[in-house]
Amino acid sequence: MKTISQEEQKEQIAYMTRVANMLCDSAPKAMVITYGCQQNENDSERIRGMLAKMGYTFTEKKEEADLILYNTCAVREGAEQRVLGNIGALSHEKRRRPNLLIGLCGCMMQQPHMAETIKRKYKHVSMVFGTHVLHKFPQFLYEALIEQKRVINITDSEGVIAEDIPIYRSGDPKAWVSVMYGCNNFCTYCIVPYVRGRERSRMPEKIMEEITDLVSRGVTEVTLLGQNVNAYGKDLDLGINFADLLRKVNAVEGLRRIRFMTSHPKDMSDDLICAMAECEKVMPQLHLPFQAGSDRILSAMNRRYTQAQYLDLVQRVRDKIPHITLSTDIIVGFPNESEEDFEETIRVLESVRFDTVFSFIYSKRTGTPAAEMDDKVTDEEKHRRFDRLLEVQNRISREINDACLGQTFELLIEGESKTDSNMLTGRTPGGKIINFPKAEGLSTGDYVNVTVDKTNTWSLTGKI
Ligand code: SAH
Ligand code: SF4
Ligand code: F3S
Repeated sequence: MKTISQEEQKEQIAYMTRVANMLCDSAPKAMVITYGCQQNENDSERIRGMLAKMGYTFTEKKEEADLILYNTCAVREGAEQRVLGNIGALSHEKRRRPNLLIGLCGCMMQQPHMAETIKRKYKHVSMVFGTHVLHKFPQFLYEALIEQKRVINITDSEGVIAEDIPIYRSGDPKAWVSVMYGCNNFCTYCIVPYVRGRERSRMPEKIMEEITDLVSRGVTEVTLLGQNVNAYGKDLDLGINFADLLRKVNAVEGLRRIRFMTSHPKDMSDDLICAMAECEKVMPQLHLPFQAGSDRILSAMNRRYTQAQYLDLVQRVRDKIPHITLSTDIIVGFPNESEEDFEETIRVLESVRFDTVFSFIYSKRTGTPAAEMDDKVTDEEKHRRFDRLLEVQNRISREINDACLGQTFELLIEGESKTDSNMLTGRTPGGKIINFPKAEGLSTGDYVNVTVDKTNTWSLTGKI
């Protein structure tokens, strides 16, 4: 695996020092807003890490920020529209405070047509950079802030990994660890391979170093991240695969819980299922997107499995890990999905009975093969199917949650409940959230046994 050179790294450290020296007395504040998936959240932690080294502190208030940076997502049109709306609305603030620095980075910016739009129509944005040059952020900030230049850089430095970027984490008992970047699958609807590049795995010793360090700082749960995480190692030629990586991480002393996402069904080997079953720290949870139930649509999506193969895989997983929590992603309204095709998706839902389903209406992405397919299904019809899917899944989720009544789970306490300040919130081994009343001596990061005493479709409540 190619990593960025030592010279390049030194160059960026030099930029960080220069910016830090220029800003030393001004105590500037930054606001980093993240859209999209956990990979993006993890990238934002790196951006905050670099900002902290340059003397920035962080704020959640736009009015007091000296730097506002949006880390964007391109996976659906809705996410892009929200970013454009927010950026447009910032032009007032920029007029009021000309020294405010506004930047955009992430997947949406990696698309040349989008970078071009920002350049032409959003003149109050001073910094635009893509996913491949994240490690050069100190240089971009230096150029924009100190040299007062407008920086637009979406260079595609394919296949390179930047290690040792400082990282700023919230201090939670759990942390995300990216183990690989990019995707080779080219599902026909998906923009990710175009904006994140090809699959590249981090060296196992770098991953182990990061996890050991996290544990020494009090982290007890890690989630290993990759767009196609179970393809880990295929590009390394080291004879190591994702199952081997799980076994290695399982041996880290002091670590208590391991999760990972996202897995592609075609890369879900029996060896991996065995590793999940045998490693006591790997939690009984699997996010396994199936996207569509119809074989015709699966083939048009280039998913490389059939409904029967998917159902067989779920069975093999459940044979080894009977109480595993399963979640999935579904796309409704792929071009020319017929009513019968859609019914096959419902069939899979009824047959697997997932704990959680993330469903999306198909969104056309410029540059993907599906964007060229003609589509006769109306938006109205797509929304009708989407609502029907939600109805079916809500019933199933409710039934699964109701069955938790009276059961006791070990929770890792993640903090105060978002909806009730008298409650704490934590996750079960399977990843379900349970809220329960605060009690003397309990705090974030503790493990506690909680018995479920109330259920509904979206959440569970319990008592110690
Ligand atoms: N690598 C992961 C996640 C990719 S993006 C995976 O393969 O599962 C997360 C989800 O967004 C996808 O699983 C898919 O369900 C959805 N998605 C991707 N492209 C989309 C599109 N063009 N329209 C609607 N949903 C999309
Ligand atoms: Fe997109 Fe498919 Fe890759 Fe997931 S596996 S990121 S859906 S191309
Ligand atoms: Fe979005 Fe990029 Fe993640 S497109 S889903 S932020 S990889």
